[in-house]
Amino acid sequence: MKDLRKAVFPLAGHGTRFLPMTKASPKEMLPLVDKPVVQYTVEEAVASGVSQIIMVTGRGKRAIEDHFDISYELEDVLREKGKMKLLEDIRRISFMAEVVYTRQKESLGLGHAVLCARNLVGEEPFAVALADEVIDASCPALAQLLDVAREFDAPVIGVQEVPPGEVSHYGIIRGQEIREGLFRVDSLVEKPRVEEAPSRWAVIGRYILTPDIFSILENQKPGVGGEIQLTDALVTLASHRPVYAVRIEGRRYDTGDKGGFLRATVRYGLKNPELGPDFRKFLVELLEHPEEV
Ligand code: G1P
Repeated sequence: MKDLRKAVFPLAGHGTRFLPMTKASPKEMLPLVDKPVVQYTVEEAVASGVSQIIMVTGRGKRAIEDHFDISYELEDVLREKGKMKLLEDIRRISFMAEVVYTRQKESLGLGHAVLCARNLVGEEPFAVALADEVIDASCPALAQLLDVAREFDAPVIGVQEVPPGEVSHYGIIRGQEIREGLFRVDSLVEKPRVEEAPSRWAVIGRYILTPDIFSILENQKPGVGGEIQLTDALVTLASHRPVYAVRIEGRRYDTGDKGGFLRATVRYGLKNPELGPDFRKFLVELLEHPEEV
C-alpha cells in the first residue's frame, strides 16, 4: 500500500441524537474542554501521517470551515495583546493539514457521503474517520489501522468489542481471528439484532479503504434505514479481495451521544494539565458531599 495521504471526514449528519443542541450548531463543534470534537479527530489523522483532510459537509456546517480557516481579526487582536502562545495555537489549527470541502447535498447515508469524496480522493488508498467518535489512545487509532494496511496491502476496518446490548447500534463483523485482535473479514452486517449478530466486534468509525470501494458504492442499493450503507459496500469488497479488521487499542467516546459526550468531557477535563487537578477535587467532593458543592 502506498503512503496514506488523504482522510475523508463525513460531516453532513444532522446530529439528531443531540437535539436541541444541534438544531443550529454542528455536533462536531461541541467542545471537549477547549477544542471542538472534530479537531481531536483531525489531529489523530495528522499524527497518523495524513496531510489532506476531505470534509464532506452539509448545510449548517459552516462553523467547521471557519474553525480550520485563518481568522485575521482574531490573530491581530492576539498579536496586539502579546498573547503569542495562544496565537501560535490558533494558527496551528489552520496549517496542520490541507483541508478541502465538498458537500453531501442529500442525507443518503454514510456510503453516499464517502462516494461524494470520490473525485477528491482519486486513485489512492484513503482513510475514513467519523469525527464524533473520539479515540484517546497512546498510538493514534488511524496509525494502528495503517500498520495492518501496510502489512497486508489491504483495506482495514477498526473494531472494538461491545456488550450484547449495543451490537444493534453498529456495523458488526464476521471473521476469522488470525492473530490476537486481528481478523480476516468474511462479511459484515449493519446494525443487526443481537440474536442475529455474527460477533460482538463493532465497526467503530475508522477505516482504511482502497479506491475500488467507489464503484461498489456507486451501485449500492439502500440498506438499513433506507440509507446507502458503507457497511454493505464493504461486504461486497470483502467478497472480491481480503479485508481485515483490527482491534483498536484506546478509549473510545461517541460524542454524538449525550452520555458519551459527558464521559468524554469528564475524561478530557481530568487529563487537562491546567484544569485537571481542581476538576478532580471537585468531582470527589461532588460524589462525597453532593449537597455541599
Ligand atoms: C456508522 C456505521 C456503522 C458503525 C458506526 C460507528 O453508523 O454505519 O457501521 O458501526 O458508524 O459509530 P452510525 O452511527 O452513523 O449510524
